[in-house]
Amino acid sequence: MADLDDLREGCDFGLGVAAGEQSFHIKGAAHLPWGMKDRLSRIFNPQTGKTVMLAFDHGFIMGPTSGLERIDLNILPLVQYADCLMCTRGILQADIPPTVNKPICLRSDAGTSILTELNDNVIIDIEDAIRLNVSAMAVMLAIGDAGYEAKTIANLYKAVDLGSRYGIPVMGVTAVGKDMARDARYFGLASRICAENGANIVKTYYCDGFEKVAAACPVPVVIAGGKKLPEKEALQLCYNAINEGAADVDMGRNVFQSEASAAMIQAIHAVVHKGLTPEQGYELFQDLK
Ligand code: R5P
Repeated sequence: MADLDDLREGCDFGLGVAAGEQSFHIKGAAHLPWGMKDRLSRIFNPQTGKTVMLAFDHGFIMGPTSGLERIDLNILPLVQYADCLMCTRGILQADIPPTVNKPICLRSDAGTSILTELNDNVIIDIEDAIRLNVSAMAVMLAIGDAGYEAKTIANLYKAVDLGSRYGIPVMGVTAVGKDMARDARYFGLASRICAENGANIVKTYYCDGFEKVAAACPVPVVIAGGKKLPEKEALQLCYNAINEGAADVDMGRNVFQSEASAAMIQAIHAVVHKGLTPEQGYELFQDLK
């Protein structure tokens, strides 16, 4: 029972002052429940509406690829500069201390490797995502792949059903099949299919005409970096994507395969959140390197 001594009656009710207008900084999320919004706000900075995700989930199909041989040595020093970490549960539990206190976008499908057919995946148990306190679950879709399209859309659908039940957003990751054209038409189609099936975030690739992909997608679009580029080109890619409607760069190889990965992620951060041009970002990279 609270102490009742000196119990003061409320007297300042702001009568005549309209209730504060409530808006939400994330595209397509205004009508979501509180838990979803809380998790999304941990990923997307409420001031800028943007985020820099550090992706290092590649090992789940590729093994110890270049730059990811030792997560403790290659990735841990970069974690402080990322807004969100994208990884698998195995690496999360083995190498990332919970004290880093960063939102996690958990790679939530598995079942294949580069040695076999990709995309024959199943999704993880939602209870594990809850136990790990993740802020989003990422699930891959193979749109246009006759063998796996239906299976991967069903995976997304199931993840969204489960995520909705527990307030965990889902990121649809558009995989690019060997036979798919990497153009705005394909990425626009794949991104829209993710969103229509309930994804709260869509991860795709930058392409010519990207502004149409972002405009037609009712939820935030984030871009993967793809293969390693010279640093200046990678910063240009970030700048273009952000200025054409992306809410995030979710980069892996262009960070952890850089000759100066800590400098690179800080330069990306400045381009995304502070609006630095690619030239200014590259100058920052050189200074920090
Ligand atoms: C996508 O499915 C992968 O899991 C990576 O997370 C993604 O491709 C981002 O990494 P990168 O910037 O190296 O392409």
